[in-house]
Formats: sequence, C-alpha cells, structure tokens
Amino acid sequence: MTYILGIETSCDETAAAVVIDGKTTASNVIASQIDLHAKYGGVFPELASRAHIEAIGAVVDQALEDAGVTLDQIDAIAVTRGPGLVGSLLIGINYAKGLALAARKPLLGINHLEGHVYSLWLTQPFREVNFPVLVLIVSGGHTELLLMRGHGQYERLGATLDDAAGEAFDKVGRMLNLPFPGGPNIERAAQMGNPGAFPFPRTKRDQSFDFSFSGLKTAVMREVTVPASSEARKKSAPEKGLILRSDISINDVAASFQEALVDTLVEKTARAAKHYGAHEVFMAGGVSANQRLRAQMRKETDLPVRYPPLNLCTDNAAMIASAGHFRYLSGLRDDLDMEVLPMWALSNNTYNVRNRP
Ligand code: KG4
Ligand code: ZN
Repeated sequence: MTYILGIETSCDETAAAVVIDGKTTASNVIASQIDLHAKYGGVFPELASRAHIEAIGAVVDQALEDAGVTLDQIDAIAVTRGPGLVGSLLIGINYAKGLALAARKPLLGINHLEGHVYSLWLTQPFREVNFPVLVLIVSGGHTELLLMRGHGQYERLGATLDDAAGEAFDKVGRMLNLPFPGGPNIERAAQMGNPGAFPFPRTKRDQSFDFSFSGLKTAVMREVTVPASSEARKKSAPEKGLILRSDISINDVAASFQEALVDTLVEKTARAAKHYGAHEVFMAGGVSANQRLRAQMRKETDLPVRYPPLNLCTDNAAMIASAGHFRYLSGLRDDLDMEVLPMWALSNNTYNVRNRP
C-alpha cells in the first residue's frame, strides 16, 4: 500500500490529508479561513498567508495522527505547487520541503486543478474510469473544460475569458447582500425562488468551448440595483456602494442567475463531450457542489456523470494526495528546490512539467 501525505495552501484553506493508494482517504484535515475573510467579502491575500503559517504545523500533525501513521510510514509528500496566491503557495511548499528533507521522503509538486480532478478518485465505492473523460472544473478561481485521455494527460478545450463560475457566484452574492461565499448562499436562496423570473443572458451559443460570465454579472447588477441617475441613489453617500431595489425578490434573482449560469456550463460541457467522443463527464471544484448543476448535467448528457463527495468539492488536501499518488506511480519526483508556479495552466502532460514557470 502507498501512503501519500498531501498539503494544500493555494488559497484560503490550510489543509493536509493522508490518502492510501490514491483512493482511500485515511485523514482529511481542513482549517478554513472563511470567517477570517468573510468581513472583506473575499479572500485577503496577506491575511491568508499569515493564517497558513499559524495553522500548517498543527494541521499536518493532525492529518498524520488521524490516519494513525507517522511521517516515517509515508511514501511521499505531495504539495500544491500552483496555480494560486504566491504567498499562500510558498507556505505550503516550504513546509513540505522541510518535511521531505528531514524525513528523506520524495517530494511531488501538484497542480491544484489536477488535484480537483483527482477528487473524483476519492468517491466510494470507486468505479474504474473509462478514458477519455470530459472534465469541467468550476471553482472560485477557474472554469475550464479539459479532455483527460489518461492519468496526467490533459487537453485544454476552453476556459473562462473573464470571471470564473465561482467568482460570478461570489460577486452576485455580494450584490444581493448574501454572506460570503456566494455559491452556497445563492443556491439556498434559489431553492425558494423562480428560475424563470428574469431572462438573464446565457453565453452565446458559439462553437467555442470558452466561457464568459461578466455579461451575466452585469445583467444581474442592472436588474437589482437602483439606477445611478435616480434620486435615491444621489442621496446616498458613495461609500454605501450599490443600493438594492426594494421591489424585487432576492430569491427570484438568485434562482434566475443560477439557472443562466448552469445552462451555460451544461450546454458547453455536453457539446464538448459529444464532439470529442468522451466516455464520461466529470465535474470538480467548489461549484460542482451545486445541486442544480449536478441535476441538469445528468439530464442533458447521455454519458455517466461523476462529481466528488460534497466535502471534497471545495479545496482540500486529500485530492492533492490522490493526484500525488498517480504522479508517484509514474516514477516522477520533484526537486527539493522546485519553485511555486502561481499561474500554472493544466494542459498537455502535467507529468512532464519540471521547474518551468
Ligand atoms: O474549489 P474552491 O474551494 O476554490 C478554488 O479553488 O477556487 O471553490 C470555491 C468556490 C467559491 O466561489 C464558492 O462560492 C463556490 O466554490 N461554491 C459554490 C457552491 N459551493 C461552493 N457555488 C455554487 N454552488 C455551491 N453549492
Ligand atoms: Zn480549488
């Protein structure tokens, strides 16, 4: 059996986990900073790095303890190398290097997006994957369509040209005065709203597999806020920001926004799956927790659709450990002086990426 210790600090979660053979989660510890960032309505990079420094030692110790193993029994240490916030990535990678050096263990630098893909390998019971697979990654920082032909092999088919899907959820959540993060709170409000109340725009049905959500976000803003020229708006101090119209239902706006975004994601994914002859559709990342997205994806494609367990949709280290397992099996090891790659795109063969920025 292969034991991989995973460490993830690319954004606002300090996480460590132990995964056995890439598929069994022996432990999964996450110190979330949501409360810390909630009052800013988003992730504050300097605060994030400081919180990672404070939490990482205890989080890693806890992950080993929960799994009932010592560092000696670990086969390799997998750590998120990018993409992400540079200051946050550095905390994880430096900690992982320290452990690897002290315990003489191999070090594996993992692409965070590849980690999200491997959250699908942690579903129990695991069914063998029938490649090629069409993967939709929808998180707070990324919206990408990939064709995965095998372990570590990705072809990037499209991505968002502006906001990521989760970012759109978070921005619209802020507009509607819902708590951070917007995604789960919009989903909750949407359950009580009418998805047909507002005909928000869907991304143009062009032939590309790219996404754009800024038009949708602007359309929502135009619908829900008091126009800048109005008397009510002029009377308010500018620092008060946007004023919400009082005559509309937040639940209806949330449901209509979610429906427009989900329609776009599903249409492009289903079309890409058909076009490239995929055998399965995978969804991963924070937004893949969305029940409406899951239901519509199942409805609109004839292929088997997989998504991670709810607790592994958002950032965690078990997915990093699982990705690390397959990198480890491929025989690759990274250097102890590897650098962080804050803009690392997931494409081609990730197993061949060395210290290339
Ligand atoms: O994957 P993740 O934890 O972080 C990144 O790597 O970016 O995703 C976080 C994002 C946030 O934007 C959050 O609003 C969104 O996932 N999210 C959701 C839901 N749960 C989390 N969006 C829609 N519906 C949800 N249920
Ligand atoms: Zn993520």
